[in-house]
Amino acid sequence: MTAAENSVSITDVTLRDGLQIQPVVVNRDTKLAVLEGLSAAGVRSFEIGSFVSLRAVPQMADTAALFEVMPRHPDTTYAALVPNLRGAERAVLAGVRQVRLVLSASEGHSQSNTRRSVADGLHAAGAVVDYLRGRGVAVSVAVATAFVCPFDGVTPIERVEEIVDALLSAGVTDVVLADTIGRADPAHVARLTDTMLSTFPEVTFGLHLHNTYGMGLAGVITGLEHGITRFDAALGGIGGCPFAPGAAGNVATEDVVHMLEAMGQSTGIDVGALAEPAGILHAAIRAPLDSSVARALAWVD
Ligand code: COA
Ligand code: ZN
Repeated sequence: MTAAENSVSITDVTLRDGLQIQPVVVNRDTKLAVLEGLSAAGVRSFEIGSFVSLRAVPQMADTAALFEVMPRHPDTTYAALVPNLRGAERAVLAGVRQVRLVLSASEGHSQSNTRRSVADGLHAAGAVVDYLRGRGVAVSVAVATAFVCPFDGVTPIERVEEIVDALLSAGVTDVVLADTIGRADPAHVARLTDTMLSTFPEVTFGLHLHNTYGMGLAGVITGLEHGITRFDAALGGIGGCPFAPGAAGNVATEDVVHMLEAMGQSTGIDVGALAEPAGILHAAIRAPLDSSVARALAWVD
């Protein structure tokens, strides 16, 4: 079965969102081993790293080197996250063909994460999209704090609508709605998803959910029931934004895969085969894996 034939697409963000907040900097060979393990398990969409300030996020300093040496499997998307034009230029130099641009829906997180206003972030997005499009690079946009901001509280749905409207005008038709700090309850996921899908039928939406309050899988189910078929997840439930206090890890790749497959959805991913890269990750970050599947199947001691 090819990736396109699966009913749900999982983008594994372990090597970006997962590692960017780890106190240890994971070396390139370990990142490659995790990537290989995830590929062998059937993952066909990845976020590999980011092109951000090296001072701000040293864990991502080797992203260009990773793109240079990593083996590429057919039918597989290898994306990198960028915050600005400088990041986009670095990504193009590194041979990246799929870029995810990040901007925030709330002022507090926008300033904390990228030291600019939401309006400036949107303005910058236009130039980044033009630059990447001109080089044949596919662009998606991750809207951080699309649900709740650690500084400003709940993000009004109208605010997200304005942002997606502006992105659409700039030619963006691929948008990921991120619950950066894991505060979106399922009803909130339903409301935002319904509004987005009905207002912007020409846009493909994905969900990026964190599990801080244990609502991650409920959010995935809700999103699925309301028409979303693309979800981000990270192995071992690791991850978080260093500039958004209070965020716990992403929904775990193995938990999302296990649940969806049990429901009869197809992800193309063999949950049992995720044990190997999970073990490598666990040894590298020297921290427990935070997933129900890892505990249930006793993947690590
Ligand atoms: N990659 C690498 N370096 C970058 C960069 C990028 N994408 N963008 C800016 N820089 C460099 C500049 O060249 C400059 O370098 P110098 O001091 O050696 O001259 C320095 O960073 C400061 O540039 P400036 O434009 O003033 O940016 P800033 O200090 O206000 O930082 C960001 C802005 C966006 C670069 C920084 O806040 C950042 O990297 N944020 C991303 C945070 C992140 O990854 N969050 C988690 C994922 S959502
Ligand atoms: Zn995240």
